[in-house]
Amino acid sequence: MNRLRLAKLLIFPAALIPLASLGWKALHDGLGANPIEVITHSTGDWTLILILTTLSITPLRRITRQYWLIGLRRMIGLFAFFYGTLHFLTYIWLDKFFDLHEVWKDVGKRPFITVGFSAFVLLMPLAITSTQGWIRRLGGKNWQRLHRLIYATGVLAVIHYLWLVKADKRKPLEYGFVLSLLLLYRVVMPALETHRKLAVPTATPASSRATSA
Ligand code: HEM
Repeated sequence: MNRLRLAKLLIFPAALIPLASLGWKALHDGLGANPIEVITHSTGDWTLILILTTLSITPLRRITRQYWLIGLRRMIGLFAFFYGTLHFLTYIWLDKFFDLHEVWKDVGKRPFITVGFSAFVLLMPLAITSTQGWIRRLGGKNWQRLHRLIYATGVLAVIHYLWLVKADKRKPLEYGFVLSLLLLYRVVMPALETHRKLAVPTATPASSRATSA
């Protein structure tokens, strides 16, 4: 079995552990006095963790030269969408009892809900177009351009977390720090590559002059 298949076989059940843990706690009275809050926080946390994990695949594969890692990005991204959907469902179902008028009012009135909702909406086209068929239909370049939305999702998700926390902002700031590193890598790496490409043609004539002299 190749490395990618093995990694997928391990990651798939691992990504379901947070959901299984919530299910187990729900069945054994382990969700405490405010189960809705526990479910909302756990699904929200895992959505954000999985978005950041998806974003870290490209730097990780380049730094470690393990290029097969790219094959994991789609699965992890889809799990981020899965937990995001559970998070949103917890809110509209358990918190708002499907009162869509109330939900819509909240989206317009509470800034942290507005940005959380925007982050979730941006995840939708990414999940829908994650198939080979959509890559073909959109063309590689357009598909890549569209999938850069994941960075905007990450930024909105961190703002959502920062704005909803009232006192201790350490956790959202830690996520923000990780996201900043990933964004910085995204900006710095192409700049370095362009610099390297520009440096090569100027170096060649100099070296050929040296050898011909
Ligand atoms: C990509 C989308 C989203 C991400 C990554 C995300 C992430 C998070 C995170 C990390 C938390 C805090 C968890 C904790 O305290 O440990 C949270 C809480 C929450 N989120 Fe989201 N969220 C998203 C979308 C949404 C949406 C669409 C809604 C509703 C429209 C929403 C409503 C809430 C609510 C009500 C809370 C709890 C607030 C509180 O405890 O006062 N989120 N979310």
